[in-house]
Amino acid sequence: MFTETPKPRLIVATLALAALIAPQAASAQGGERSGKAVVEATCASCHAKGAKGAPKIGDKKAWSRLADRGLSGLTASALKGIRQMPPHGANMTLTDTEIERAITYMVNQSGGSWIEPVSSTGKPARRTGEQVVNAQCFKCHEKGAGGAPKIGDRGAWIPRLKNGLDPLVQSAVNGHGGMPPRGGAANLSDAELKDAITYMFNKGRVPESTAK
Ligand code: HEC
Ligand code: HEC
Repeated sequence: MFTETPKPRLIVATLALAALIAPQAASAQGGERSGKAVVEATCASCHAKGAKGAPKIGDKKAWSRLADRGLSGLTASALKGIRQMPPHGANMTLTDTEIERAITYMVNQSGGSWIEPVSSTGKPARRTGEQVVNAQCFKCHEKGAGGAPKIGDRGAWIPRLKNGLDPLVQSAVNGHGGMPPRGGAANLSDAELKDAITYMFNKGRVPESTAK
């Protein structure tokens, strides 16, 4: 199957992945700052040196313990504030997405490998089902690896959809058999997963140029 040239698909996949993990461009569109920019402008004043007991950027041990709580848990406490950590890092102009990006940036500077969120509120930067599928879900769902229902194979999807789309989204969120939670991309939102599933069910055909 790969005797010819696998390159075109790799390039497309790489571009899609780049779109997924390079939200700076998207943030310019949405008018929101990147995690790096937010951290440098606001969070670094405490987190760079560990002032007041703030977990220091680059402290792998401290951040991996925090990272175990997941982005939503950390965001909730950064928004509310916790002990010496002021709500929103004392900058109320920051959007929730900017806070999430800043946390992701600090996690990644400290040994993590989270995908910086594109946006949780603004529509402009939400990744489409097609982008998500081409960047992530195709890895298993294109060829049906591990028994994954194939993209565009309605016969495989229809029985799974018998209780509607929402239970299927929940199952993608939590993982199911050989299917990792959120398809292995922890930062995909529920809405993005839903779009990805709809795309795999509906159109679901990977463009010709990417098929081989
Ligand atoms: C005024 C100093 C200060 C600033 C500015 C600040 N932090 Fe913090 N931050 C702290 C301190 C202190 C802690 C440790 C709180 C504790 O656990 O006692 C902390 C903890 C945290 C935690 C872990 C929360 C938890 O639940 O354990 C996160 C996440 C975080 N900060 C994110 C941010 C982000 C994002 C910014 C910038 C938008 C920011 N902080 C700006 C002082 C600060
Ligand atoms: C590492 C391989 C892998 C990746 C990557 C992956 N899946 Fe799956 N997926 C599977 C497998 C295997 C199954 C079949 C699991 C079963 O039913 O036992 C599955 C099943 C599913 C199901 C049906 C679950 C059910 O309850 O019947 C949905 C929905 C789904 N995947 C969505 C996604 C989405 C969306 C993505 C991309 C964000 C994705 N998957 C990425 C392997 C993967």
